[in-house]
Amino acid sequence: LDTGPRDRLDRPLHDLRISVLDRCNFRCPYCMPEEDYPRDHRFLGKAERLRFEEITRLAGLFAGLGVRKLRLTGGEPLLRRDLPALVGMLAALPGIEDIALTTNGSLLASRVQALRDAGLGRITLSLDTVDPETFRQMSGGQGDLAVVLDAIAAAERAGYTQMKINCVVMRGVNDHQVPALVERFRGSGHVVRFIEYMDVGTCNGWKLDRVVPSAELRDRIAARWPLVALPANYNGEVASRYRFADGAGEIGFISSVSEPFCGDCSRARLSADGRLYTCLFGRSGHDLRGALRAGADDAELSRLIRAVWCARGDRYSELRGLRTPQPGERVEMYEIGG
Ligand code: GTP
Ligand code: 5AD
Ligand code: SF4
Ligand code: SF4
Repeated sequence: LDTGPRDRLDRPLHDLRISVLDRCNFRCPYCMPEEDYPRDHRFLGKAERLRFEEITRLAGLFAGLGVRKLRLTGGEPLLRRDLPALVGMLAALPGIEDIALTTNGSLLASRVQALRDAGLGRITLSLDTVDPETFRQMSGGQGDLAVVLDAIAAAERAGYTQMKINCVVMRGVNDHQVPALVERFRGSGHVVRFIEYMDVGTCNGWKLDRVVPSAELRDRIAARWPLVALPANYNGEVASRYRFADGAGEIGFISSVSEPFCGDCSRARLSADGRLYTCLFGRSGHDLRGALRAGADDAELSRLIRAVWCARGDRYSELRGLRTPQPGERVEMYEIGG
């Protein structure tokens, strides 16, 4: 029996995405463009970020409210060098069935075995292109494709043989390289998922004409490799799934612009400084750290989380306007991790 909170649109709380820090070593144009991210953005100091004990305590309370799935994000989560320790603490929580990590892969190779040993179940890797030059450009001159491909190999050796590979598609930037990406991972066991470029945050200069609608991309891919639609793995899955008709595996499309999926959005997000966001497009979230550090007991914190969830009515992607938001009007993607 599900006794967890339901929001105003009757959506349960099932997933918690935890951002462990707001820094990143990449400068992807759709997230944190070097030239345009807010100059006055002050990255969190160590004392402002939740300690692993604090994250674990909150995650345990979320589990008590029905959360079964945790995902660690950033910025780039592996910039916290001792991340495997956090994974170990979260893996010990009763009720948590699934722990996943979203990473850009640049620091993964040397950490992946420790993550596995600590209990990390799944890895999602961001990879927008298999062209070295475009990769360099799309990481803001920071990343090296070879390093990320090595990390994939290291992850496979550690047992992550069915990863998800997320590719944000921007028209005129990397969309022409989509076939090469498909080809590279067809038959590998990994699932490439194409994400529509979204208007998250305030600094990525989003324009609708840079979005390649998933239907268009799917038709382009299917013309070369026939596709068969698959049912969702679980209620509220963000990606729509297809398999290659020739049996070479599966791909997915995340279409938050052309086909919003707010209707069964059961995701809460915790920022590195302990703010609870009920939508990726929220402004400032609800401060949990203040109550936590003021000595609130578990029952009080749980009540607070429940109250925030019950008041939730967010469905931004279904209401999306085309106005460019002002800095400060929305949380940035690197603060909340997608
Ligand atoms: P699993 O299905 O559990 O593997 O994870 P997931 O697909 O929920 O997680 P992942 O981090 O791989 O999500 C992929 C991308 O989809 C994110 O990076 C976002 O860009 C987008 N996304 C995920 N959740 C939401 C959401 O609630 N709203 C919107 N608009 N986009 C989302
Ligand atoms: N639109 C779509 N996806 C984005 N991501 C970051 N910014 C955007 C955006 N503007 C994705 C990254 C990564 C995840 C954390 O979010 O590629 O896979
Ligand atoms: Fe790119 Fe992810 Fe870093 Fe944003 S947080 S700049 S999407 S690697
Ligand atoms: Fe959930 Fe907000 Fe994304 Fe809609 S826009 S799916 S409510 S996070």
